[in-house]
Amino acid sequence: MKLLVTGGLGFIGTNFIIHILNNYQDHSIVNIDAELIGSNHKSLSNFENSNNYKFVKGNITDRVLMEKLINECDAIINFAAESHVDRSILNAKPFIDSNIIGVFTILEILKNQKKRLVHISTDEVFGSLETDSADENYRFNPSSPYSASKASSELLINSYVATHDIDAVITRCTNNYGPQQFLEKLIPKAIILAVHNIPVPVYNGGKGIRDWIFVDDHCNAIMKVLHKGKKGESYNISASNEIDVLTIIKQILSIMNKDISNYELSEDRPGHDFRYSLDSSKIRKELNWSPKVSFEEGLKTTVEWYLKNQEWWKDIADIKTLNSIQWKS
Ligand SMILES: NC(=O)c1ccc[n+]([C@@H]2O[C@H](COP(=O)([O-])OP(=O)(O)OC[C@H]3O[C@@H](n4cnc5c(N)ncnc54)[C@H](O)[C@@H]3O)[C@@H](O)[C@H]2O)c1
Repeated sequence: MKLLVTGGLGFIGTNFIIHILNNYQDHSIVNIDAELIGSNHKSLSNFENSNNYKFVKGNITDRVLMEKLINECDAIINFAAESHVDRSILNAKPFIDSNIIGVFTILEILKNQKKRLVHISTDEVFGSLETDSADENYRFNPSSPYSASKASSELLINSYVATHDIDAVITRCTNNYGPQQFLEKLIPKAIILAVHNIPVPVYNGGKGIRDWIFVDDHCNAIMKVLHKGKKGESYNISASNEIDVLTIIKQILSIMNKDISNYELSEDRPGHDFRYSLDSSKIRKELNWSPKVSFEEGLKTTVEWYLKNQEWWKDIADIKTLNSIQWKS
């Protein structure tokens, strides 16, 4: 099977490609990525000369290029997106372009080419939940331009399934963590600041709750949905690890044998959701998926990976002050 992976130089896409190339001999991959913020070639460099992996630099909004690539593949896994909520608050335009226009471009092509699309969405489309967990039919209530752009693309996809009979499935996943995540996200950022003994900044008293899944478990779920998911359906993916941010920071500091009080409370960001929670019983029951990696094990693996692979991140993290990281453009 020839897969077109979009955004495969990003965190989850890279892990997905490594997962496929290591475990599925009969699958090959074309990776299209625009090399935007968060992308990194280093992790895939081992595969650059392999017969079953090819990289194409390009944008998913490029209709002509996407038409050609889709024509040559059997299915598309759409990871490509602007993914950082804080950046969407500063400037939402790139989020509209990649996350909505990009999906629209793919959908228009799929009106004429009958290929399966697996679209990677997020638990953030449901917004902040108080005590309950969102199942697939829960109401959308996005509160950032990022989550609103992801919700919009889901609605577009559903409309193309209904009106143009395209073969699309949607996955909604909780917060991923694991090796190769770009440094501005919570877990890698905390690890790297801790390496430099810089206090980790924590929003909202660290009380915000996120539901965490090890990236390999997410990749396994995507393969189940690709091969067994029903057209027009969406599948929530969660490993049921709801943990508050401060607990995670302290666990990271403890794994690294650092002072567990080396964090500082910082101002909350606008529109900050307090809690995300997904009910993933549908994928567990219908597609026989379950997560394999406990949070303790996955977090230890992740911390060890960043400590062992400092050459992966040293040249993109520029430690300027005691409490912030400046990103090299
Ligand atoms: N990271 C998470 O915890 C999480 C959770 C749920 C869902 N998701 C979704 O999973 C997907 C991947 O997330 P990630 O964390 O790997 O993101 P990421 O930011 O690490 O990677 C995104 C990649 O997409 C590429 N890209 C962006 N816009 C593009 C465009 N228009 N054309 C081509 N390439 C483009 C970027 O260059 C980058 O390499 C996203 O769709 C995100 O919404 C992420």
